[in-house]
Amino acid sequence: MSPFRLTRTLPEDATDAALRADVHRGLTGRPKTLPPKWFYDAHGSDLFEKITELPEYYPTRAEREILLARSGDIAAATRARTLVELGSGSSEKTRHLLDALTDLHTYVPVDVSESALTQAGQALAAERPGLDVHALIADFTAELTLPGTPGPRLVAFLGGTIGNLLPAERAAFLASVRALLAPGDALLLGTDLVKDEEVLVRAYDDAAGVTAAFNKNVLTVIDRELGADFEPAAFDHVALWDAEHEWIEMRLRSRTAQTVKVPALGLAVDFAAGEELRTEVSAKFRQEGVRAELFAAGLGLTHWWTDEAGRFALSLSVAR
Ligand code: AVJ
Repeated sequence: MSPFRLTRTLPEDATDAALRADVHRGLTGRPKTLPPKWFYDAHGSDLFEKITELPEYYPTRAEREILLARSGDIAAATRARTLVELGSGSSEKTRHLLDALTDLHTYVPVDVSESALTQAGQALAAERPGLDVHALIADFTAELTLPGTPGPRLVAFLGGTIGNLLPAERAAFLASVRALLAPGDALLLGTDLVKDEEVLVRAYDDAAGVTAAFNKNVLTVIDRELGADFEPAAFDHVALWDAEHEWIEMRLRSRTAQTVKVPALGLAVDFAAGEELRTEVSAKFRQEGVRAELFAAGLGLTHWWTDEAGRFALSLSVAR
């Protein structure tokens, strides 16, 4: 069995401190907002897995189609010896890439979830003798220090998760990824693409109500972690297309006038009837926009691959 190592770069209590700061800022701001990263406790991660199987939610299937078709091209273009995956989660779709990268020596999954890393990392290390798995517990939106592993390195950020960052956060994130890249290294980035509004909205407001449950789960997380008394049934799930910003927004709309207590923060938060709390933006991209954002961060786009239907893109870029 090949080595599995786990390195914690986040202090044990960092997650709790970040949750408190985010919830305080978000619920006292106007409009009220919450960052999407707090959806993903064990139940939220299960709900997200279910979302990826919904008929309406095309991005996961579209990205898998591209990875299946293009993993060989990605391997040939990068000759990567280290694959760093940011937000690796279950590492499920990474397997195609791992299979194709014939020169691969080390896999570095990076995630805030220790349980996901241990599960996925140990399974991979057992399945693939010869592959070093060095998992990193880290918040990839903060400063990242990578273990000293052989180059060239391929840094992958898949799933369209970059779309969950606001434009200024994306710029900061891409600049920090750029700082990790030596000559010969590359970034593989998954981006969902602008398309018909109806298709987009349905992907975030499915008929079975799984996305609604996923959205409301953030309230359950705050209830459990901060002793709040959010009543998920007192909010309606909202998904809308913002044509100006070209992003989907998920919101929770208060059904009535109500006050929610958050004891751990000493807060009582008033909601007007119909008031909306923004819980996620999911930006959709065009090739020229991706190229420009990469360029501004010091990266040059070298490859652009989409699925047959042109719904989703994987791009490869290098330091310029
Ligand atoms: C795959 C994490 C980017 O924005 O599409 C799915 C999360 N939110 N349904 C996305 C999500 C609502 C998702 N990411």
